[in-house]
Amino acid sequence: MNEGIAQTATIGVIGDVHLFWDGQDVSFFNDGGYDLLLFVGDLAGYTQLRGLRVARSLQKLRIPAMCIPGNHDGLHAFQLGAEITPRAHRLRNVLSLGQASRCRSLDRALGHVELVAYCRRRLTLGGVPLNIVVGRPHSIGGRRLACIRYLAEHYGIDSMEASAARLRSLVDACDAAPILFLAHNGPSGLGERASSIWGCDFRKKEEDWGDRDLEDAVRHARGNGRSVLAAVAGHMHRKTKSGKLRPGQIEKDGVLYVNAAEVPRHRHIDGRKRRHHVKLTVTETTANAEDVWV
Ligand SMILES: [Fe+2]
Repeated sequence: MNEGIAQTATIGVIGDVHLFWDGQDVSFFNDGGYDLLLFVGDLAGYTQLRGLRVARSLQKLRIPAMCIPGNHDGLHAFQLGAEITPRAHRLRNVLSLGQASRCRSLDRALGHVELVAYCRRRLTLGGVPLNIVVGRPHSIGGRRLACIRYLAEHYGIDSMEASAARLRSLVDACDAAPILFLAHNGPSGLGERASSIWGCDFRKKEEDWGDRDLEDAVRHARGNGRSVLAAVAGHMHRKTKSGKLRPGQIEKDGVLYVNAAEVPRHRHIDGRKRRHHVKLTVTETTANAEDVWV
């Protein structure tokens, strides 16, 4: 290490893919100089088959990568409909049948790209020691747990309180290295407007649509003197239903929060197809996020 120059880790954060992924993305990231790629979930659209195609393409990445399942990953369209439509909630448990096998298929299709949820990974990237704490899979946001039957059967989580307790225990298992949270949806506590970083834009009533358990985990970490560098997530697309733009990042109490969900992440700009991701640069004490269109 050069005296006085901080070690730096460079992490690519890829927002909700929703099928916008191809061989050029693979080539870019394989040569992009990243130490790690974090996929915040929602590789799929409304069919699992096309999501699996994206997952198989991710196998060609030659750098370490992990992905947390979003609410579109491992759920078929009817199950997703039952999760998001209050009138159909009573059907969600029966429609969750087969979710475990769909998630296993996704895991197999991803190959060495790790499908992660409710876990901690201790890595050293670019000389920077990091605890990556991974949150609740399949989050749909708000106060209600999505996929509760699956969460109960596979993770022993049957309530928001149980989920918060699991995340706190993951934080407690971290060593002295700083923490980076990876989640599908971001934490609550960051704004109650439709255009807040994780605000609800699909109901008349504007409200905070962030995950309560994740907010609790960040607070728990900071309250216990842990260094929390950043929390990266997506789910709530940056462009709201009314056409307003959410912030892609905000900083609060020394923690950088990144919503990477630029959807679609492939876009034609000035006649050229461009691809979005967030370049997250961290040292042991700092985090910086930059939107990149390549
Ligand atoms: Fe999502």
